[in-house]
Amino acid sequence: MQRLEIKGGKKISGIINISGSKNATLPILASTILTDKKVLITNVPIVKDVETMVDLLQAMGSNIKFDKKNKKVLIKNKKKLSTFASYSMLKTMRAGVLVLGPLLAKYGFAKVSLPGGCAIGSRPINLHLDALKKMGANIKIKDGYIIASAKKGLSGCSIKFKKISVGATENILIAACFAKGLTKLSNCALEPEIQDLITFLKKLGCRIKWKKKRNLEIYGMQNLKSALHKVIFDRIEAGTYIIASALTNGVLKIKNIDTSIMSAEINLLKKSGVKIVNKKNYVLVSCKKKLKSLNIVTKPYPGFPTDLQAQIMVLMTKAQGVSEIKENIFENRFMHVSELRRMGAHIDIKGNTEKILGKRQLNGAELMETDLRASVSLVLAGLVASNKTILNRVYHLDRGYEKIEKKLTNCGAQIKRLK
Ligand code: EPZ
Repeated sequence: MQRLEIKGGKKISGIINISGSKNATLPILASTILTDKKVLITNVPIVKDVETMVDLLQAMGSNIKFDKKNKKVLIKNKKKLSTFASYSMLKTMRAGVLVLGPLLAKYGFAKVSLPGGCAIGSRPINLHLDALKKMGANIKIKDGYIIASAKKGLSGCSIKFKKISVGATENILIAACFAKGLTKLSNCALEPEIQDLITFLKKLGCRIKWKKKRNLEIYGMQNLKSALHKVIFDRIEAGTYIIASALTNGVLKIKNIDTSIMSAEINLLKKSGVKIVNKKNYVLVSCKKKLKSLNIVTKPYPGFPTDLQAQIMVLMTKAQGVSEIKENIFENRFMHVSELRRMGAHIDIKGNTEKILGKRQLNGAELMETDLRASVSLVLAGLVASNKTILNRVYHLDRGYEKIEKKLTNCGAQIKRLK
């Protein structure tokens, strides 16, 4: 089991290039099931979850090539794909459930492993399944699998999501692209990764329109085109490195970032005292002032992203006074708190609200990683802690951060991977 060793106290200064978005790449790859034309996807992040999605599509018979050196994925599906997605493929990556919608829409059948919960919550998929049933699917759950059929194919209809869900919006949006007739979706998620998926689907020839704020209209098409698509940058990776620089009082140039889709997080960080300036082709981050405490509430986009909650908590351990973070998206996204407490952080949890006492010097410790974003928050804590921090179960980190120790080491961090 690989581990990371971090020697704290170094400033994070220099240049970091942001990779493509994992959470845009995964639904885009799943949606390629719809077409048998050539598809080239570029700016793909080299992270474990993307490799797992490529392996899943390959196992289903997709003619997919992952050119890691050039960060490209080339797909040219010819033959009918298998409609089976096994537990062994999905057990490490819940987003594999995003093949359900396209398989059902294209082939009228799918047997997909029911994604389990994970460290941050039970992660149900009732919204996905209810919507597919409304589109004409017959769905059974048997032996841990979703067995879905739609002999006459899926039909367009009006669907209002009872709750805003990124995955449900993506799964049904992709399915509706191949369904018969018009599908009207309301109460959709608006994350930039969904917008990137829509951009890709439109390049395939899909007819998709945003109506009112959270309403989509999709007209099903059966004959799709080839497409070339560059994946959007990863805004959560970008937010993580902005925080890394602010935490360590460094001066960081961040490239391949568009702050216009990061307003909630940028405005909050500036309010706390982080200096974030848009230059010609990079964003300059510095933090000379004492950090002010913040009150943060995680919300669906365009609110503050839940995927940055653990990271900004580490920053608040340095702020003046008491900060408060309310986690509104997932019921158990506090796995990082117990590990941060072991480093000397003073954090109280009441329900879904955490109170963080500032001006705490963190001390290095041996820690356990539990999920992707909790893991990266422990890396941030290690960067600013006195003496050495050892992180176990680094595979959690490798699921969503491309070359993190290289990017940080190039900016002054002392991190090494222990076999
Ligand atoms: C996506 O997960 C992201 N994953 C998550 O990022 C992100 O935290 C989350 O959206 C919220 O922004 C990918 O894009 C691969 P949801 P998803 O459906 O789609 C409840 C990371 O770190 N819900 O928007 O699974 C659910 O329990 C990951 O990169 C239902 O109740 O999230 C949660 O409370 C972690 N029924 C809320 O909705 C459903 O059918 C939001 O979940 C579906 C969801």
